[in-house]
Amino acid sequence: MTGIEELLLSRIRDVADYPEPGVMFKDITPLLADPAAFGALTDALADIAVRNGATKIVGLEARGFILGAPVAIRAGLGFIPVRKAGKLPGATLSQAYDLEYGSAEIEVHAEDLSAGDRVLVVDDVLATGGTAEASLRLIRRAGAETAGVAVLMELGFLGGRGRLEPALQGAPLEALLKV
Ligand code: PRP
Ligand code: MG
Repeated sequence: MTGIEELLLSRIRDVADYPEPGVMFKDITPLLADPAAFGALTDALADIAVRNGATKIVGLEARGFILGAPVAIRAGLGFIPVRKAGKLPGATLSQAYDLEYGSAEIEVHAEDLSAGDRVLVVDDVLATGGTAEASLRLIRRAGAETAGVAVLMELGFLGGRGRLEPALQGAPLEALLKV
């Protein structure tokens, strides 16, 4: 394991049986509270943005906002929020997706993305991949290209990488930690 992987992993707290029995929740609040770790994470994600030629950063509500906004500033790029449905006041594009039980919907302001943009999606965790997949659909429907998906942590046992692959269309999924 590299130094940065060790640092990041040491600041993520496992919380058993949250939000429901049998689930091991990955709590990133200790990492956010440590400026050295949060700074290293921001630098690593900003490097992914630059390496992949991103022109904009999309952050996925809510934890993707916390990580994505400083990455956008560090990389010198604009930040675009993808929000849970009903929170954006302007004309939106919406994308529904399936959860384990039920469904969810996310939205983006249509005017925030256009042809010529190369968009990197930033989030904390890739689990089933449903949220990230829906965001890639939104980006493409807005006429933009995807520069990839960058996450702090990939929960490999949930198979999100496989689910995401068709929507990535060759763009990379980069996870700083695989658990
Ligand atoms: C969590 C996590 C990712 C998503 C991953 O968000 O932050 O965004 O789930 O799950 P998936 O790969 O199965 O789609 P959640 O909406 O639970 O909470 P948040 O608002 O705190 O980010
Ligand atoms: Mg989230």
